[in-house]
Amino acid sequence: MDGTLGAGGHARGILEASAPDGQLLGLDVDPQALAIARETLAPHEHRIHLVQASYITLSDQLKQLGWSEVDGIVLDLGASSMQFDTRERGFSFQHDAPLDMRFGPQALQTAADLVNTYSESELADLIYEYGEERDSRKIARAIVDKRPLHTTRELVAVIEAVSPRRGDRVHPATRTFQALRIAVNDELASVESALPQAVTSLNVGGRLAVISFHSLEDRIVKDFFREQSKDLVNPPYEQLYETERKAIIKEVNRKPIMPSEEETKNNPRARSAKLRIAEKM
Ligand SMILES: C[S@@+](CC[C@H](N)C(=O)[O-])C[C@H]1O[C@@H](n2cnc3c(N)ncnc32)[C@H](O)[C@@H]1O
Repeated sequence: MDGTLGAGGHARGILEASAPDGQLLGLDVDPQALAIARETLAPHEHRIHLVQASYITLSDQLKQLGWSEVDGIVLDLGASSMQFDTRERGFSFQHDAPLDMRFGPQALQTAADLVNTYSESELADLIYEYGEERDSRKIARAIVDKRPLHTTRELVAVIEAVSPRRGDRVHPATRTFQALRIAVNDELASVESALPQAVTSLNVGGRLAVISFHSLEDRIVKDFFREQSKDLVNPPYEQLYETERKAIIKEVNRKPIMPSEEETKNNPRARSAKLRIAEKM
């Protein structure tokens, strides 16, 4: 199962490796991604089931297919290059576009809805928490002063005015854009909800592979894998509600797998990727 189909690169690899009989369920919330993946995967048409749905529904999706367990699940989190590069979707601060940032139509709010309706303190908290942005308070105040904001360029101008470029290489709007994208798509809560479902849906010996692109996501994956790979013999005080249980998974790699220098050279967006793999016990 590929919970984040995108353009279908991973799915194609899985289908090639599992030929001639392996079947794949692929999910994505983005109808454009699904259309492209359908083309990419056309040679394997009879072995694929593609559904426009969030990976937070992964247990239900498997149930609907009548699959009780699967051999592998991959989640490649965040936005795709295709989404970043489609100007009108508003993910990139380098192009002027409406402030949208939704991965798919199921998202209830756009980035414009958030910047124009949240209170100053809600915006500051969001930008601090999801963007790890030091200037969150200044930026939130400036947004509230200048709103309504409708386009990425308007938002970038507001941020640049109060948070000038420092010595570091990242553009001052990077962290605020990341924060808005995470909030619009409810990304962290989605990962938290998907991981236990994924582990429950694996065969014994089946593997869950998760690629994350920023520390907030990676921490959720890392903590979940650590927790579920421990035997809980005498539950610590804060987990007294847990009954004793054996570890449910084992971590295949203790440290995350990172791209090689060569891969980063060919694909600079891979530079912050971290792959963690767990195996069902
Ligand atoms: C990094 S890309 C995946 C690229 C893919 N592995 C490939 O080989 O082309 C992430 C994809 O996950 C999708 N996505 C994000 N959140 C999702 C969710 N909650 N459920 C399903 N898909 C989601 C995005 O729309 C995007 O297409």
